[in-house]
Amino acid sequence: MTEAVRYALRGGSEGRERLRVLARVMRPTTLALFDRVGIGAGMSCLDVGCGGGDVTLDLAARVGPSGRVVGVDVDAAKVDLARAEAAERGAANVEFRAADLRTLADEPFDVVYARFVLSHLSDPAAAVDAFRAHLRPGGIVVVEDTDFAGYFAHPPTESFDRFVELYCAVVRGRGGDPGIGPRLPRMLAAAGLGQVGAAVVQPMGTTGEVKRVNPLTMQNVAAAVVADGLASAAEVDRIVADLHAFAEDPTTLAGVARVVQAWGRAPG
Ligand SMILES: C[S@@+](CC[C@H](N)C(=O)[O-])C[C@H]1O[C@@H](n2cnc3c(N)ncnc32)[C@H](O)[C@@H]1O
Repeated sequence: MTEAVRYALRGGSEGRERLRVLARVMRPTTLALFDRVGIGAGMSCLDVGCGGGDVTLDLAARVGPSGRVVGVDVDAAKVDLARAEAAERGAANVEFRAADLRTLADEPFDVVYARFVLSHLSDPAAAVDAFRAHLRPGGIVVVEDTDFAGYFAHPPTESFDRFVELYCAVVRGRGGDPGIGPRLPRMLAAAGLGQVGAAVVQPMGTTGEVKRVNPLTMQNVAAAVVADGLASAAEVDRIVADLHAFAEDPTTLAGVARVVQAWGRAPG
């Protein structure tokens, strides 16, 4: 077994590292989105597919003691981590639940938020309908997700192109759509939401951890890539090494996929 595959199979801490890096890289644009849609003190929020709870805790800080935030994720290990982090920070207005988004009790929120979740689902429209069903009258659904057609790095390299190809193949092979971003506004409108808005963000850089997202993502999907027969473990190792070297070179430009942010409001 090669290093990248061992890394992916160890799951736990390494998968968490990628989520944490991704959360830090996305934090400024996600907080700007919350400003833009008016999330503030006293609101109740549901963070669907909350992962390690980074955004959930940002929402909890934002809504303050008079507000309330629920983070939900189907992965119980991530929910445990999120709970531990909340306890460490003394966040009293936040609750985490290990559950599938389709089995949530009907409980109305001012805000239902989901980042990088819909792209992994085989029926994202049904999920958006479920988000809509959890809104109070006048509440808002806010989603952020990838458009891999807009993923780029400079200078172009074969390893980067192959990484994007393999990542997209793994997600598609599991019924997801890594290019879901541009579909989001119409999906919100189709769910009966109004005042639909959208924006595009794409954190990039020549230095810093924004450039580490690519090798970490490749490592994260390494086991799946090999299990699906898309590439050999040796090829995956070579791509990971190339992407790390690319990230460490200050003359190169890299970052995350293009991200579409979209929001829509329930009547009332
Ligand atoms: C790429 S992570 C994103 C985590 C977090 N939203 C963020 O942006 O940092 C996707 C998360 O969605 C969760 N997820 C996937 N399908 C789900 C479902 N049906 N119900 C609840 N959570 C789900 C996964 O367990 C994973 O933690």
